[in-house]
Amino acid sequence: MPDVVAGRADVEELLALGIRAAGDGDEGGARPLLLLGPRGVGKTVLCTIVQELAGKAGMPTVTLAGASVATKSELAEVLVAPGPLDRVRGIRAAGFGVEAHAKDAPSVEDALAARAEERGLLIVADEAHEMDAGVAHVLINSVQREGRKNVFLVLAGTPVLDWKRRAWKTTFDERFVEKRLGPLSNAAVREAITLPLQNLEQGVAVTDEALETVERECMGFPFFVQVWGELIELSGAIRVDQALIERVRAGFEDERDKLYRARWRRLRQSGLAAGALALVEEGLGTEPMKSGQVYECVAKCYGRMMGGDGALDGENVEWIVRGLVAEGVLWDLTGGMDEYVAGTPPTMTSFLAARPPPTKLETEGVLRRFLDEQKAEMRVDDSRVASVATRSAS
Ligand SMILES: Nc1ncnc2c1ncn2[C@@H]1O[C@H](COP(=O)(O)OP(=O)(O)OP(=O)(O)O)[C@@H](O)[C@H]1O
Ligand SMILES: [Mg+2]
Repeated sequence: MPDVVAGRADVEELLALGIRAAGDGDEGGARPLLLLGPRGVGKTVLCTIVQELAGKAGMPTVTLAGASVATKSELAEVLVAPGPLDRVRGIRAAGFGVEAHAKDAPSVEDALAARAEERGLLIVADEAHEMDAGVAHVLINSVQREGRKNVFLVLAGTPVLDWKRRAWKTTFDERFVEKRLGPLSNAAVREAITLPLQNLEQGVAVTDEALETVERECMGFPFFVQVWGELIELSGAIRVDQALIERVRAGFEDERDKLYRARWRRLRQSGLAAGALALVEEGLGTEPMKSGQVYECVAKCYGRMMGGDGALDGENVEWIVRGLVAEGVLWDLTGGMDEYVAGTPPTMTSFLAARPPPTKLETEGVLRRFLDEQKAEMRVDDSRVASVATRSAS
């Protein structure tokens, strides 16, 4: 958790509202909240905040992280018994529990109702884009069942959820409150830097010029705010001026470049690097790009590289665009799939522009695997939802 959570007052208000509504269990109840944003924008911080709010209200919390819950019965168990799933699995491995007595396994519905009965219930699913589609299907439908008003469900994930959610095949999707998290405003960055310094015992003065530099370097990205804040605090300075900023700048650039290199490595390992570079060359990062332009640019780039027998069709292009969204290269600001902006800080765009283009050989090798993995995952998701849905209907 950062010392100061800057610029997210609107979301914090939604979180408080949800906890209140689930606690009261009336007035139409709590609507599920979906937090979407690129990597590092502050989703997990907001998940932590809502857990703290629930703690203060005496409301029990169930947390699910990504793919940690793999089946419907595991979901029911987690809802019944707080604590790490490993323990549940351990009990089962020892020969007790659900597998041995399948008919005694609680249903998700019953578990939810029992757990929420007294003081309401908060369910937080961070990294929701990793969630098993069958589990998501059951969870969301059970939470939204008519008549249940005392459960507040918060889902947080990368914008790839725009696609993944379709595979969940849930009903009542329109009841979701969707919040797309973009970069912080300069005013919020300023607050996040200055407030913790004011709280220090010795009191630290910060010049306007220094603040402006930090604002410029952060570009609204919370992680950078955190890095600057730490560097300034560690310096022990009682006056933060331009000279101090210049002294610690190398430390900041180190951290920043480490992040960018890690992201670049991931792009190369999935064959997406070529597409990212092509988009940057086309102008991504300087202004919004129309969706059609994005698809065309990606198709052209990979057509050139993978031409001939292995040419990519529209479905493959779609997977590559999704991959670029997942990696935060592309960010659909409005969620309408009409236009995209860069999901990474502007300095990452310059970093990308200076990378050597990956070769055809490298890209061919890794891209096929990436595409196969994506398709296989989607197939599994679909069949799981289908089987879960049939079972709950019967
Ligand atoms: N509103 C904020 N004010 C100040 N610092 C923040 C804020 N939000 C996030 N941070 C800091 O930015 C960093 C990234 O935040 P966080 O881990 O919540 O992002 P995330 O969206 O969950 O990222 P990922 O998609 O990689 O999981 C953390 O170091 C966090 O402390
Ligand atoms: Mg996170």
